[in-house]
Amino acid sequence: MKRPQLLCINVFMLAALALCPGQAALGAGSLTGVTGGRTTFETNLSLTDQNTTGPPFRSIVWLFNLNNIVLYTPAGSLVSPAYRKRISLNTTSGWLDLWDLTVGDSGAYTVDITTHTDQQLNGSTGLNVYERVSSVSVTPNTTELLEFNSSVRISCHVSTGTSLSYLWMNGSSEITVSSDRVQVGDGGTSLTILNVTRYDRGPYTCNVSNPVSNDVGRPLTLTIGYGPERLAIIGPSLVEFGEVTVLYCSAMSVPPPSYTWSLNGVHTTVQGPVYVIASVNSSDYGKYTCTAVNTLTDLSQAADHVVSLKENRCSAAIATTAAVMAACLVAVAAGVGVVVGVIARRVYKKSSYEITEL
Ligand SMILES: *[C@@H]1O[C@H](CO)[C@@H](O)[C@H](O)[C@H]1NC(C)=O
Ligand SMILES: *[C@@H]1O[C@H](CO)[C@@H](O)[C@H](O)[C@H]1NC(C)=O
Ligand SMILES: *[C@@H]1O[C@H](CO)[C@@H](O)[C@H](O)[C@H]1NC(C)=O
Ligand SMILES: *[C@@H]1O[C@H](CO)[C@@H](O)[C@H](O)[C@H]1NC(C)=O
Ligand SMILES: *[C@@H]1O[C@H](CO)[C@@H](O)[C@H](O)[C@H]1NC(C)=O
Ligand SMILES: *[C@@H]1O[C@H](CO)[C@@H](O)[C@H](O)[C@H]1NC(C)=O
Ligand SMILES: *[C@@H]1O[C@H](CO)[C@@H](O)[C@H](O)[C@H]1NC(C)=O
Ligand SMILES: *[C@@H]1O[C@H](CO)[C@@H](O)[C@H](O)[C@H]1NC(C)=O
Ligand SMILES: *[C@@H]1O[C@H](CO)[C@@H](O)[C@H](O)[C@H]1NC(C)=O
Ligand SMILES: *[C@@H]1O[C@H](CO)[C@@H](O)[C@H](O)[C@H]1NC(C)=O
Repeated sequence: MKRPQLLCINVFMLAALALCPGQAALGAGSLTGVTGGRTTFETNLSLTDQNTTGPPFRSIVWLFNLNNIVLYTPAGSLVSPAYRKRISLNTTSGWLDLWDLTVGDSGAYTVDITTHTDQQLNGSTGLNVYERVSSVSVTPNTTELLEFNSSVRISCHVSTGTSLSYLWMNGSSEITVSSDRVQVGDGGTSLTILNVTRYDRGPYTCNVSNPVSNDVGRPLTLTIGYGPERLAIIGPSLVEFGEVTVLYCSAMSVPPPSYTWSLNGVHTTVQGPVYVIASVNSSDYGKYTCTAVNTLTDLSQAADHVVSLKENRCSAAIATTAAVMAACLVAVAAGVGVVVGVIARRVYKKSSYEITEL
């Protein structure tokens, strides 16, 4: 009796369809495995196909790249040394289980079966074993970056993984095209940015994947030094005697600059962006100068702001009646509230602006 001389290896059902029509099916519809894992090579035979009461098969031979894995006959089996302790053969279905997979197990597997009725059946499939990707990290070759004056190469490392492909992201956008300035090289493992600008801070991630896993390292955010720029002092120009006054010096700069203040050309001990005069007296009028120094770019910038005395009937009235004095104090207190409120709003706006900008 003539029956198809082919045994289909049933690669998760679907792939079996591709394998079936008698072709030398090597490589088509491969199985995928993970190092250390296990896989089962399935045949589509079952006991009910066989018209027998004894063992269904006279022999089963499994080969890997045409080298013997196991030879089974009802009288006994022969397992190659490399496969002892890591295979099991189901002698009624012909299925082969293989575990402790290594990358070296990738290749072609064939089976030849002789049935009880001397039918010759065979089939083949492929197996690809991959090592999982682990511990992705990205490192820049330098952290000293200045706008318009530096280039950086960011490398992507993995601890383990085979057949890797790399995907670079800048924020949420994929870096696909290489431009004159941005290049992906070394087989995808490095990202080079030439002549960086402040907008190149990232965060950059490297997504490494293979057919069995993927991993994304911690994002890298670059510090790209620039500035100080757009230095300005915010604060009142006219103040009254006894008033609380706040001057605020703002700049665009990475890293944040250090600030010093001078008044009428004389250095003060005030440091930081905020200059507070708790109670204006006659020594507090004049030209305030804020100087911002960026230690990374080695650049500095200064801005001036003149604070003058407001013509004030109250100060002249200090020595007069208690009633006038009381009215003045109320006015001063209200004025202080307004000034502080305005300054506080400006400070708040300015700092939130800086957070989004930097
Ligand atoms: C196994 O596949 C072969 C080839 O397609 C087919 O001839 C045979 O009938 C199948 N056997 C079973 C039990 O499905
Ligand atoms: C099974 O084999 C017996 C004899 O060995 C035969 O009489 C019977 O017809 C066979 N059955 C089938 C389904 O082939
Ligand atoms: C062998 O395969 C058959 C058919 O798939 C199944 O019924 C049987 O349980 C398997 N035997 C073992 C020991 O796994
Ligand atoms: C299956 O057997 C047929 C006939 O013996 C042979 O031509 C074919 O090459 C074999 N296929 C495989 C994958 O061994
Ligand atoms: C870097 O970029 C700036 C602005 O795009 C440009 O003016 C400058 O010439 C560039 N420098 C180099 C070395 O390419
Ligand atoms: C760029 O870097 C070089 C070398 O470090 C330095 O000599 C030069 O002054 C820098 N230019 C600017 C604009 O910072
Ligand atoms: C970092 O890599 C860039 C691009 O290859 C190169 O221009 C630069 O000199 C490197 N910097 C350091 C500190 O090695
Ligand atoms: C990263 O993205 C920002 C915008 O989000 C863009 O301005 C910058 O040029 C990009 N840099 C690189 C190296 O892709
Ligand atoms: C990484 O790449 C893989 C394969 O392209 C994708 O499935 C996965 O969603 C990506 N992960 C992230 C966080 O982008
Ligand atoms: C003005 O106030 C400062 C403190 O803010 C104080 O050191 C200084 O002595 C005062 N000058 C006069 C003239 O009161």
